[in-house]
Amino acid sequence: MILSETARAEIRAAMKKYPQARSALLPALEIAQREAGYLSPQVLREVALLMDLPPVEVASVASFYTMLYRRPVGKHVIQVCTNISCSLMGAEHIVDVLRKKLGIEVGETTPDGRFTLLTVECLGSCGTAPMMQVDDTYYENLTEERLDAILAELSRD
Ligand code: FES
Repeated sequence: MILSETARAEIRAAMKKYPQARSALLPALEIAQREAGYLSPQVLREVALLMDLPPVEVASVASFYTMLYRRPVGKHVIQVCTNISCSLMGAEHIVDVLRKKLGIEVGETTPDGRFTLLTVECLGSCGTAPMMQVDDTYYENLTEERLDAILAELSRD
């Protein structure tokens, strides 16, 4: 068992909020990810068992959302939006700068385990493009200079 009793209780509580327990699958996966760091096959099996859902259904939902990780990630997950508005405002340059500063490619994690770099579709903040999400925080109107400050801040914790 990977999930703690606390996480299991949270998932059971989430299931009670919906007429159909399966509707709680997304929150359940978020709870599981918060606890385990990422959704390994074992974690997905535990969620499926707990919710009495077919494992393939749980795996398919886990594979659909970019905020659900099926591989280990760093302490901070940087998700740069590369959809149309951000792309027009220089998202590719932002990605290139991050690749160089972090010394990794998109999809990789720094050797010290601090940062994972990902590109994602629209995060709904098109008016402040280019933007990225790091963990649960949006960073908007990005410039190369702001990236320095953001990475320095995130490197301190
Ligand atoms: S296109 Fe980047 S937030 Fe919408």
